Amino acid sequence: MTAAGIDNVRFEARLLLSHATGLSTEELISRGRNPAPPAHEEALRGLTARRVKREPMAYILGEREFWGLPFKVTPAVLVPRPDSETVIEAALSLMPDRTRAWRILDLGLGSGCLLLTLLKEFPNARGVGLEASPEALAIARGNAEALGVAGRGTLREGDWRLPDWTRPLGGPFDLVVSNPPYIEASTIDGLMPEVARHEPRLALDGGPDGLAPYRVIAAVGRELVAPGGLLLAEVGEGQAIEVAEIFGAGGLQPGAPFKDLGGIDRVVRATH
Ligand SMILES: C[S@@+](CC[C@H](N)C(=O)[O-])C[C@H]1O[C@@H](n2cnc3c(N)ncnc32)[C@H](O)[C@@H]1O
Repeated sequence: MTAAGIDNVRFEARLLLSHATGLSTEELISRGRNPAPPAHEEALRGLTARRVKREPMAYILGEREFWGLPFKVTPAVLVPRPDSETVIEAALSLMPDRTRAWRILDLGLGSGCLLLTLLKEFPNARGVGLEASPEALAIARGNAEALGVAGRGTLREGDWRLPDWTRPLGGPFDLVVSNPPYIEASTIDGLMPEVARHEPRLALDGGPDGLAPYRVIAAVGRELVAPGGLLLAEVGEGQAIEVAEIFGAGGLQPGAPFKDLGGIDRVVRATH
């Protein structure tokens, strides 16, 4: 795996071994000297071959933790990123009343990590999620069931590039969150292979300047965000100022961005 350009090989190899054998790290250590059954060897070879092709670990293991919660992931959805937890932190800090029956909208559900985590954190909230990919939507629905929040979420197939796309959403909402695709289309092929070759293009491609989805959201911001409500959008590095301007031009009031753990302006906020 080192030859394939993968860092952290020992750590990943242990995870793959654990996945192939069904044994925990502790069990692997205590039974490490026993010969492996052929079925386990074969399974490990298969998993390693996938990783050498730079398939993300999360797709191989089938799961990724986000905000301490387990999310099923497949190649149909973006792998949830720690940076996106900044959206959750921002929501919790700006909406401290956990008991209110907030109405929440998530544009671009993917695995559902944003909306479903918010529904866990706000136990009386109800949410609507929009997703263009039917395969991703199926994963998000499965995650909603597994996390016990399906009864408070309406997860819909829809595309914000189509006319009247907001009509079925039933807004306005107290909180609108989105981690839209924000990579400049021409730069996607130059990203690390895990992203460029394996993650869904629809989850990455933000148009020629990476900002197309923010313009779409801004155009309907005052319709989707209730008066007094909040919009929180994840942005790529260096995009926060422009996105705040786009939201401002759409008639919302942008505020100071939230930084991720790396100190990068990661979430733009705007109020109505
Ligand atoms: C960057 S991913 C974020 C997924 C998830 N919210 C997260 O934070 O991991 C963006 C998501 O938006 C969806 N998407 C892209 N274009 C869309 C569109 N025009 N209408 C609805 N959803 C779209 C993609 O399929 C993808 O699931």
